[in-house]
Amino acid sequence: MRIHLKGDAICTLFLAVALCILLYSQLGHISNGEKKLQTSTKPLAAAPRVFHAPNNPRKPSQLQGTARGLRIISSESQARVASQEDQTTTPAAATPSAFDFKHYLRNKDNRKFDLLVNQPRKCKRVPGGPFLLIAIKSLVEEFDRREVVRKTWGKEGLVNGAQVQRVFLLGTPKNRTALPAWESLVRQESQTYRDILLWDFLDTFFNLTLKEIHFLSWADEFCPSTKFIFKGDADVFVNVENLVHFLEKQDPSQDLFVGDIIYNAQPIRTRKSKYYIPETMYGLGTYPAYAGGGGFLLSSSTMRKLSQACGEVELFPIDDVFLGMCLQRINLKPVLHEGFKTFGITKPSAAPNLKTFDPCFYRDLMVVHSLKVAEIWLMWNLLHNSQLSCTQKKQVKKAFQWKTKTKGPTKAYGA
Ligand SMILES: *[C@@H]1O[C@H](CO)[C@@H](O)[C@H](O)[C@H]1NC(C)=O
Ligand SMILES: *[C@@H]1O[C@H](CO)[C@@H](O)[C@H](O)[C@H]1NC(C)=O
Repeated sequence: MRIHLKGDAICTLFLAVALCILLYSQLGHISNGEKKLQTSTKPLAAAPRVFHAPNNPRKPSQLQGTARGLRIISSESQARVASQEDQTTTPAAATPSAFDFKHYLRNKDNRKFDLLVNQPRKCKRVPGGPFLLIAIKSLVEEFDRREVVRKTWGKEGLVNGAQVQRVFLLGTPKNRTALPAWESLVRQESQTYRDILLWDFLDTFFNLTLKEIHFLSWADEFCPSTKFIFKGDADVFVNVENLVHFLEKQDPSQDLFVGDIIYNAQPIRTRKSKYYIPETMYGLGTYPAYAGGGGFLLSSSTMRKLSQACGEVELFPIDDVFLGMCLQRINLKPVLHEGFKTFGITKPSAAPNLKTFDPCFYRDLMVVHSLKVAEIWLMWNLLHNSQLSCTQKKQVKKAFQWKTKTKGPTKAYGA
């Protein structure tokens, strides 16, 4: 009997050890596979993003730790695969033409450009002024993007009883031979929609700071009656209902600056990076807190102060950081809000896997970055489908609580 038991125990032990060895070897196999996947996709995944949204580097760990985050991370790997496929057709932005800092510094004092197309009555047409002015950075040639924004989240009119107005912010196109008739097209567009602001500076990445300055002084001059402003990119999805809901509890005569705030970002000192900033241009080790340019909110009062302050701060080629410097000048701490995902959580690809393209997820958020024209269109229509029922209604409320979480050092303009 005893021998029998002993035999059983030995047998069990033996089996357990065998199982452990098997599991261990499997694990090793998986992690090896993962490593390979990472190293092979990393440069590929990074390249198209830089190519599409140069001022929005990755911030991958943003949502880790939440149950929702897990879902997002898993869909990110799908996005990686997708971007790998993109890569075969899109030429990599491998060598962005070197930025001429000397030239930039020499011309830094040249910071006033004419307004070629104005909408002087944009805010006067609304009695008492708009509740929310939506200002969207756009390039002249992005006619389709503007069109889809107009028809979806950027609609003018009443949103939950609050008046919303819209303007697009344009500079002159870099490549004029590509679209010789651009100016008359833009003027026609302006006559049709009355939402175009066009300034006489070249619309380049490093001139976005000029766009920032000129928009703020335009708002100060032509739209002082607005209560709040949302400023963002054309490739974002904005849940304007959520913005209005949030803003109803705020006072426009008080300071307010809310977005996806990046703390303690360090200037890039490697020459080959697109975000390279030499020490002669910025000597400090970290940037002031700034909002990711995908989208942020400010009050009318803050707009006036910033307009003044940005006029006094020296030009800096990265517009998000420049605005952070203006905020620092008026001693205003920007507030991080979890609803702003300006670095793009994932690229929800519409057709093949509808699960990751979940409108209920977007219902919780305010701003989501890096969407294609068709995705914005589809998302808006899914969200406004009366049959949409999201089971996690409680989470919707939760998402609007203030979270005064500060992030650790981030290297937003880093690798
Ligand atoms: C400008 O656009 C034209 C037509 O699309 C193209 O042939 C040309 O190479 C472009 N020039 C530059 C400098 O990108
Ligand atoms: C900014 O725009 C001005 C005016 O069009 C132009 O002279 C300058 O080269 C542009 N700067 C950059 C960095 O693109």
